[in-house]
Amino acid sequence: MDLVQRAYSPHRPSDIRIRVLQPADGAAPEGGDVAQGLGARPKTLPPKYFYDAQGSRLFDRITTLPEYYLTRTEQLILAECARDLARRMGPTDLVELGSGSAKKTRTVIDALLEETPAKAPLLYVPIDVSEAALEESAAGLVAAYPRLAISGLVGTYEAGLAALPPRLAPRRLMLFLGSTIGNLDDGESAEFFARAARALEPGDALLLGFDLVKTPGIIDAAYNDAQGVTAAFNLNMLRHLNRRFDGDFDLACFRHRAFFDAEASRIEMHLVSACAQTVSLRKLGLVARFDAGETIRTEISRKFRFAAMAEAVSRHGLALEARWSDRQEWFALALFRKH
Ligand code: SAH
Ligand code: AVI
Repeated sequence: MDLVQRAYSPHRPSDIRIRVLQPADGAAPEGGDVAQGLGARPKTLPPKYFYDAQGSRLFDRITTLPEYYLTRTEQLILAECARDLARRMGPTDLVELGSGSAKKTRTVIDALLEETPAKAPLLYVPIDVSEAALEESAAGLVAAYPRLAISGLVGTYEAGLAALPPRLAPRRLMLFLGSTIGNLDDGESAEFFARAARALEPGDALLLGFDLVKTPGIIDAAYNDAQGVTAAFNLNMLRHLNRRFDGDFDLACFRHRAFFDAEASRIEMHLVSACAQTVSLRKLGLVARFDAGETIRTEISRKFRFAAMAEAVSRHGLALEARWSDRQEWFALALFRKH
């Protein structure tokens, strides 16, 4: 993996160091996944393309919507369990996958600082494809926490996990919050857990936040909010692709659709073509044809049963140590220890 160093001042523990990870030679060319998805039947696009600067801002707005129960429920659970979590971990580095605005992370950082020896820095390694989100969250965190040493990685989970900086503390705690695991299908999440487990040593841990099965209407409403923020978030993916790959998607010719598939226990989010049309992405040398009503699936968001998730994670040498939930059991946090 090739690394481009943006800013690096190694001497002050409160410094921000952010590296933008470039695909290694021989890796799939940028946008290969877009070409593949738009060439498939049905058409799909990877959810990571939601998150340009505007997409990250829209996601932050989603997290405050009355219908979007996930973030505030997870925040409530974190507030309850963070001290227990920190005591279990002792002095530790903190790595976070898909860190975004890292607002909930502050609750974890507050607790971990209590376990960090006086004068020692707490190493925080946020990993995110959204450079804007990472830059902004790192600046806010470093201003709020002088003892934080931030070593951020802009790139995919795979690229970030392959480029982790050297450890400072005896343990590593990996965070994967927000039920972002639900945006990966079965095969992708098995691959994800395998990579995450390889980055952990015995005694290290993974804290996983995931959304639980509940009344379908509650789930459906979270992805079809009355203010249309989720629709704007979905459509923004096309604007991002236009800019990134010199495309001509006309956003007015696509509609947001999200529905809960109870059998698969997942939300599917689509963009529906309002008419027959042809779209070009010139940087990819790609022309995609759409029938009227044809859709692009932009995201799945899976809703889990606790036991099934614990089983799936434990296949990778990670043992369930502790679990926390809200009173309604809408959302779960689980701590898995590498053995
Ligand atoms: N953890 C935060 C943000 C969740 S949104 C929370 O719980 O609220 C998902 C985050 O993952 C976004 O910030 C997005 O930019 C990032 N992301 C999505 N796909 C990614 C990928 N393949 N690799 C790395 N980051 C990704
Ligand atoms: C980031 N991820 C867990 C969100 C979710 O709920 O699946 C993304 C999102 N999509 C629509 N609303 C929010």
